[in-house]
Parts: sequence; C-alpha cells; structure tokens
Amino acid sequence: MDMIDIIRTKRDGAALSTAQIDWVIDAYTHDRVGEEQMAALAMAVFLRGMERREIVDWTNAMIDSGSRMGWTLGKGTVDKHSTGGVGDKITLPLGPLVAAHGVAVPQLSGRGLGHTGGTLDKLEAVPGWRADLSTPEMQDILRGPGAFVAAAGADLAPADRKLYALRDVTGTVDSIPLIASSIMSKKIAEGTDALVLDVKVGSGAFMRELADARELARTMVELGEDAGVRSCALLTDMSTPLGRTVGNALEVREAVEVLAGGGPADVVELTLALAREMLTLAGVDADPADALRDGRAMDTWRAMVTAQGGDPDAPLPQARHTRDVLAERDGYVTGLDALEVGTASWRLGAGRSRKEDPVQAGAGIEIHAPLGARVTRGQRLLTLHTDTPERFDRALEVLAPVIGDTPPTPRTLIHGKID
Ligand code: URA
Repeated sequence: MDMIDIIRTKRDGAALSTAQIDWVIDAYTHDRVGEEQMAALAMAVFLRGMERREIVDWTNAMIDSGSRMGWTLGKGTVDKHSTGGVGDKITLPLGPLVAAHGVAVPQLSGRGLGHTGGTLDKLEAVPGWRADLSTPEMQDILRGPGAFVAAAGADLAPADRKLYALRDVTGTVDSIPLIASSIMSKKIAEGTDALVLDVKVGSGAFMRELADARELARTMVELGEDAGVRSCALLTDMSTPLGRTVGNALEVREAVEVLAGGGPADVVELTLALAREMLTLAGVDADPADALRDGRAMDTWRAMVTAQGGDPDAPLPQARHTRDVLAERDGYVTGLDALEVGTASWRLGAGRSRKEDPVQAGAGIEIHAPLGARVTRGQRLLTLHTDTPERFDRALEVLAPVIGDTPPTPRTLIHGKID
C-alpha cells in the first residue's frame, strides 16, 4: 500500500477500499504512517466525506486496533454517550438512576478538552474518587452498585486515541464520519449491549445545525445497530448551558441536587428522557421518576462513588475567589450563549488547553438568571469562580449575556429522536 496514493484517492473524492482503510489504521497505530500524512488524510476526509461502507470499515479498523471488552454479569448493559455540551452533567445522575433498575451501566469516559468539560474531571472533584479501575474492579462494581464511570484503558481503540489528538490540532474534529467512527469505535469496543446517544445541537456543540446533528445521530445509530448494539439517539439543545452550573465541583453539586429530587428543570427533564430510552432498550418497563423521588437513585450514587474510593459526604472543593456579573438594565435574559459560557468557564480554570494540563475542581460559573429569566438592573446574573483571580478579565472578555425587552421564545430541549 502507498499512503500517498491513499491520500490522493480521498483528496480527489473517491472512496477508499476496505483493504486501504484497514492498512492505514493499522500502520498509523503502529507509527508506520507519520502524523503529517495522517493529518493530510484526515483533512481530505473532512473535505470530501466518506460513504457509509467506508465509515463502517473505518470504525471496525479502529475497534480492531485494540481489544474488545466483554461483561459476564447475568444482567444487561446499557450506556449513554453525549457528544459534549456546556453544563452537561447528565451522566452523573443518569448512571445511578438507570442502575437502580437492575441494569448495568458501564461508562468509559474521557477528560475534557476545550470548552466542554469531561465527566472524569467532574467526578474527580469528589474527594478520593478515582477514575482508574482494573477490568475486575469494573466487573465487581457492575455486579454490585451497577454503574461505574472510568477512564478508558490504553487498549480501547488506540487508533482513535492517536487520531483524535491529531484531529484536535489540525482543524479536523467536526467531521461527521470522523466523529461518528471515533465515538462508536469506543462504544462498540466497550462491549455494551445497548447505547443511547445524546447528540447536541447549537452554539456549544460540534453540530450547529439540526440537519447536521440528525445526520451524525443517524450515522452513529446505524453503526451501533450494524455491530449488534441496540442504539437510539436524542437530538438535544446546546445553544445555552444545561442547568445552572458549569464547572467540575459546581456540576457535581447540581447532579446531587437532582438525585435528591430537586435540581433545575432542564437537567431533570433530560436525565429522565435519557433514562427512559435506556430502560426501554434494556427491556425494563418502569418510570425512572419514581427512583429519583424515593431515593433509590441517590442510594446507588452513594454506593457507586464509594466503590470508586470517593466520599459522598465530603464537602466539595470551592474556588478561592468569586466575581459577580450584574444586569445592566431591567428586562429578560434573551441570550446566554453556550459557547461563551463554556469558554469563560474554561478560561477560569475548569477546563484544559492541552491534555496534560491540570483543571481546577472549584472553577466555573453559576447561572442565577438563565435564558428567559426576568431581571432587574443590578441583579446578579452570573457568579464566576476561580482559584486564580487574574483569570477573571479573560473570562469576562467572552461573556456577553443579552437582556432584551421581551421574553425569548421558550427553548426546545429535545428536538427529536433517531432510532
Ligand atoms: N468525542 C469523541 O470521542 N470523538 C470525537 O471525534 C468527538 C467527540
């Protein structure tokens, strides 16, 4: 095989053969193809796309670059994956909520890069909690509390690990074939029986347009079903942050409020909608709202945090400095942009620019007046949190909440379902 031929084939808009794809992914994983050639191919795929057969081949080749996990539990497994959003802490209440119904929820997750936070970073705000679990530990937790969230091991789709890092620095992340194959290679290799995808659409998401989000969702659902993983997707709004908090410890606090039967209405609505889909795919006929109300989900959360070394009763870290953003006039919040809030929270220290950077557990943003809220001049809109107050100005540069005279059109949280 000749890598230059393969790059030219895709550059000129033709399809790659199965043999070419298998060879490229294997050669790249084992450093026989250099970063510069793979970057050229990723850009060609970004510009030219891939047909369905190529996406399936690309996904399978990435799965085969590592090993597949398997669970012997005596109960079914179901996972949820979100394409990433600002304030998206849904995994935290959702895993224990579904596990409380006797379904195992294995969740292998990553750390956040850029303006959306990673689930592992959020959970690491819980004192003592650790993300690195061995496979026998995962198996024990699935048999016991029923849900874990852990760092994906080095052998789970290693080709994707390398390629994602390359895409991140070459402007080739937001390509439907590359996102779909990246996410689904890891989810299929994880060995889950069923998968619910939360595909975000809006300013804070990879997909800004509903039609693109729908295509991404359909591509992923088809990849899952072809691989024998029962799959469906919800298309959900990410034009404004989810809930009232953005940032690691702040989001854990809000997730615990949801598990205690409270929390913001949008977080509760999305948690329940995703839980219903997961339970349906797992063949369980129950209303998950009951397990939030009667404390079963909270009990499972506590058991799951404890099983990973965390102390569910320990106080969460708090940032050393805060600064309020006040309303400059009376009116309604008509704009609170997800990307702006995510970027500001990242600049406050809640996220990282390079994968080896540390994150501040307490940094982030509290939203006192969400989209649509009626406010009066001088009222607190947001509170910024950080350990490093020199970051306030950089965060404020990107934040521009809009106050208008009339209430905005109410947000549609769930735009539709693909199955
Ligand atoms: N998440 C992934 O795992 N891969 C992508 O390409 C995008 C989001």
